[in-house]
Amino acid sequence: MISGSVRCFLPAYLFLIIIFFTAGNAQTEIAKKAMVISSDAVATEVGVNILKNGGNAIDAAVAVGFALSVVFPEAGNIGGGGFMLIRDKAGKSVVIDFRETAPAAAWRDMYIDSTSILNNYSLRGAMSSGVPGTVAGLIKALEFYGTMKLKEVITPAIELARNGFIVNSRLEQKIIEYEADLRSYPSTVKTFFKNGNRYVEGDTLRQNDLAKTLIRIRDYGADDFYSGVTANLIVDEMKRGGGLITKEDLKNYKPIIREPIKGTYRNYEILSVPPPSSGGICLIELLNILERYDIGAMGFHSSKSVHVISEAMKRVYSDRSEYLGDPEFIKVPTGVLISKRYARERSSDIDTMKSTLSGNIKPGIVNVKDHPNTTHYSVIDSFGNCVSVTYTINDIFGSQVIVDGAGFFLNDEMDDFSSKPGIPNSYGLIGGYANAIESRKRPLSSMTPTIVTKDGKPILILGGRGGSAIITSVLQTIINVIDFKMDISSAVNASRFHHQWMPDTLFYEKFCLPIDVNQNLKSKGQNPCEKENYYGAVQAILIDPEKNMIYANPDFREGGSAKGY
Ligand code: DON
Repeated sequence: MISGSVRCFLPAYLFLIIIFFTAGNAQTEIAKKAMVISSDAVATEVGVNILKNGGNAIDAAVAVGFALSVVFPEAGNIGGGGFMLIRDKAGKSVVIDFRETAPAAAWRDMYIDSTSILNNYSLRGAMSSGVPGTVAGLIKALEFYGTMKLKEVITPAIELARNGFIVNSRLEQKIIEYEADLRSYPSTVKTFFKNGNRYVEGDTLRQNDLAKTLIRIRDYGADDFYSGVTANLIVDEMKRGGGLITKEDLKNYKPIIREPIKGTYRNYEILSVPPPSSGGICLIELLNILERYDIGAMGFHSSKSVHVISEAMKRVYSDRSEYLGDPEFIKVPTGVLISKRYARERSSDIDTMKSTLSGNIKPGIVNVKDHPNTTHYSVIDSFGNCVSVTYTINDIFGSQVIVDGAGFFLNDEMDDFSSKPGIPNSYGLIGGYANAIESRKRPLSSMTPTIVTKDGKPILILGGRGGSAIITSVLQTIINVIDFKMDISSAVNASRFHHQWMPDTLFYEKFCLPIDVNQNLKSKGQNPCEKENYYGAVQAILIDPEKNMIYANPDFREGGSAKGY
């Protein structure tokens, strides 16, 4: 059984690597009853207070979602979308899909200019935004699965927006990094700069327009956002910036309740999210392939395990490019892709000694007729309800445009579509017809909020940020726990690698692959390349049902905080 300590044998240098990565990190939070982990300490505190006041995990998750839209404006949002995976204390699970939709006026080639070169409009400005889903999604979750009133869960966010919060170094750094982009939009400058100057660590950031928007949502619910004052402000912003979202688009937006994607890995059950996210299908296809190998015996970050895992990643991302998209628009062969049989076929040409060139990997043969800057937070309450939420405005600060008068950033989620077949998006992902832009379609996501259970009891609640690397970051955290028997801090903070088929490159974080492993991988034909920055950030809760203990440790790549009781 999993415990709070590293139990497997690890070579000394690997211990040094893990110690390097975990040194200076927050200590693992240990609790008996309940836990919240998010990318921001203030938001985590909001969630814990809701739980202590008798709310359940869904109440807390909705409160954290609204609070992050204030204190984590680079990714927390009401102007974006995401996925919430709920598993209740009785073991029933459900997904709330509140992914953005393309405006009705969107068309396939909208980001291709006269010379056929993709322009930047899918990433910046009003034209990059899809119809936001967060407000409708959070409110739906609360109505169906929560126990508290909207007023109770949104009030902490209103107070944070009205009274302000202290800017931390993380936010200061992000503003510095994106300053030129942010300054391109007058509404953003008005809200996010004081007298034209950047906010710096220690300043109090008050967001009066955002407070007013949250108050309207408190008083009029989703109606305000989708057909009231806020809807009008969004449409005015669209008119100013040449965006496509109309009143009709907002009125027509609906979150969708979906069945989770379900699979197994060794003796564990895996629950994750279905299309329009690729996360669940890719994660389960990856785990099904890896189950065929004794990854634990191959060794953590050995050339053997890294090679096999990379080969699996190439095949799965190749399938992603071909088959995955919004299920309301294309027939997704989910049943085939997550079957053990397909994993057997798909892995049959994996050579443990030799890399298959990505150019020689084509999407698997699926008979469709046969079968039918993002942020993640996790919550478990004292009743045993679990919630795993990833939501996003895509880039850090999304489209960079704040809706004038409403005080929040709009997303640039339109870039998650495949704007042109074969041309990568900002995460280097290639797609085709399945993820082409269409009116009212949802762009394909990589968000992977996941819950792992064993013998019917929750073991891991996790997910992360990092664009295309979300899936592989979640995957590695799961195998670090299950195959390499790591504790939560080591599992989350260990260095990671990533292969997404195209480009044919095995990217890895600093210190991930020692020189000999790197050379072995090259001799197998892999193309390892060290990344300058880190991959993703995973926020996970680990539960040990035998000891009746709950553990969480924020990913050092993002910081944040875990708090339980
Ligand atoms: O839905 C997706 O897959 C992307 N919009 C996620 C973006 C993301 O993770 C950015 N954060 N680092």
